[in-house]
Amino acid sequence: MPHQMPLPPTFTTAPNVARMYDYFLGGKENFAADRAMAEKVLRLVPQVRTYARLNREFLVRATLFLAGEAGITQFVDIGSGLPTQRNVHEVAQQIAPGARVVYVDNDPMVLVHARALLATDAQTRVADADLRKPSSIVGHREVLNLIDWSKPVAVLLVAVLHSITDTDDPRRIIGELCAAMAPGSYLVISHVEQRPELVRAADLYRNANAPVVPRTAEEIAALLSGLDLVEPGLVRLPLWRPRELEMWPEELDAPLLGAVGRVASTRTGGG
Ligand SMILES: C[S@@+](CC[C@H](N)C(=O)[O-])C[C@H]1O[C@@H](n2cnc3c(N)ncnc32)[C@H](O)[C@@H]1O
Repeated sequence: MPHQMPLPPTFTTAPNVARMYDYFLGGKENFAADRAMAEKVLRLVPQVRTYARLNREFLVRATLFLAGEAGITQFVDIGSGLPTQRNVHEVAQQIAPGARVVYVDNDPMVLVHARALLATDAQTRVADADLRKPSSIVGHREVLNLIDWSKPVAVLLVAVLHSITDTDDPRRIIGELCAAMAPGSYLVISHVEQRPELVRAADLYRNANAPVVPRTAEEIAALLSGLDLVEPGLVRLPLWRPRELEMWPEELDAPLLGAVGRVASTRTGGG
């Protein structure tokens, strides 16, 4: 029986970022408090559902690139969220059947669902750890069961870095993760960009279990310094190796930036 954390008393009554994202994606793993706050966000930013979908589509394209062209067979998906369609191990194993995936999150409900729905074979594990403490992820028993840090690995930080405040120092976190990654490894990020309506929406997340901190393109680019970005670099998500040539203007203008960076043999500018 997997280890189960006691749930906090406000578990269902306080809005929760993973369950709100699930609601935006059309999922059913959310409660009234999540839906009420998600609706407030939608009033400020009516395109949020599109943005959530674009984020998932980016995650799938990045995973296909990593398992295919980049030849990566081990993945650590941090801030993995509630299981949805086309989870990382399903996408990676489509191309590389031997691919191993560890899902990491610090949300008790995400962990329960991930253990039930994702960690269903020997190649997939779930780890309860906090991104703010990278060493707790790198050295986690479930991670070490599947991941050999001396070989290239892909670490995914998709739609989670904007839950890290400047006080918790996302640059330090990325530096510590990359220091553990073998040369030839890859880091994937997506991040909400700073725009007035998103700053107002982010303010609503003060009442949620994790914050949202929109950052400028320059601030997001600075998080990636020292990594070799694969083409096309840091771009709006629909423009990262698109499969469709036709896109709606609201998609092209989506305030979400993403990139895939390669860890070079000697990394400079680490945190
Ligand atoms: C918006 S969801 C993103 C899910 C998935 N990565 C995606 O892009 O589709 C953000 C996830 O990050 C998790 N998260 C937030 N802060 C975290 C932290 N400090 N450590 C680990 N997970 C965190 C939340 O619990 C949530 O499941």
